[in-house]
Amino acid sequence: MSYAVAIDGPAGAGKSTIARLAAKKMNLVYVDTGAMYRAMALFMLREGVAPEDAEGICKKCEEADITIRYENGEQAVYLNGENVNALLRTEEVSHMAAVTSARREVRVKLVDLQKQLAATTDVIMDGRDIGTCVLPDADVKIYLTADSRVRAERRCAQLREKGEPCDIEEIERKIIERDWQDTHREESPLRKAADAVLVDTSDMSIEQVVEKILEICREKKGNR
Ligand code: DC
Repeated sequence: MSYAVAIDGPAGAGKSTIARLAAKKMNLVYVDTGAMYRAMALFMLREGVAPEDAEGICKKCEEADITIRYENGEQAVYLNGENVNALLRTEEVSHMAAVTSARREVRVKLVDLQKQLAATTDVIMDGRDIGTCVLPDADVKIYLTADSRVRAERRCAQLREKGEPCDIEEIERKIIERDWQDTHREESPLRKAADAVLVDTSDMSIEQVVEKILEICREKKGNR
């Protein structure tokens, strides 16, 4: 039986940063499921499918072959044979991913891939529905969250570091909007699994959060 840590939570709570660091410390493979939904969104954008074209999204999703490889210890997402990692973090893709990830056909396809990965490998997997839907029997479940203002401040700091302009009010507004979409959609809405441990990172440093995750994992192992 492989070992699995599931991390869910809203956008900007620090899931990917924390999961990547914790994976290194625990010698687990980090699986970023958001990147898979983003690759699917990129495919739809390239194919010219409109966000409101639900039927088009369902049909086209069959043509997208999304696979994961590990290169130099990092996850690389391949879309129909092309490494698309560098193309996934744009506003356009984020917006499209929020829409396409709500479609059932898209979820069935990607959840299947995620389950296959976790069946053969010890993973730390992050997303929105990992503890509730993808890996309901995960060894450890964490629900990572932070205040929307704190998440907006973190995003602004990242943008400033890249020399890009940022409007904190606008960013926070988008975060709140995305939270609403993620928690209110019909298919696999974002919610804390009953057996997940809630970690609010609003007043914690990255190091403190990673240490907290390791502590929770150690405790769970000790209790088994
Ligand atoms: O975590 P992220 O921002 O990279 O996720 C991109 C989009 O995919 C976001 O709209 C939420 C969605 N998503 C999802 O529905 N289920 C997951 N397991 C992971 C991400």
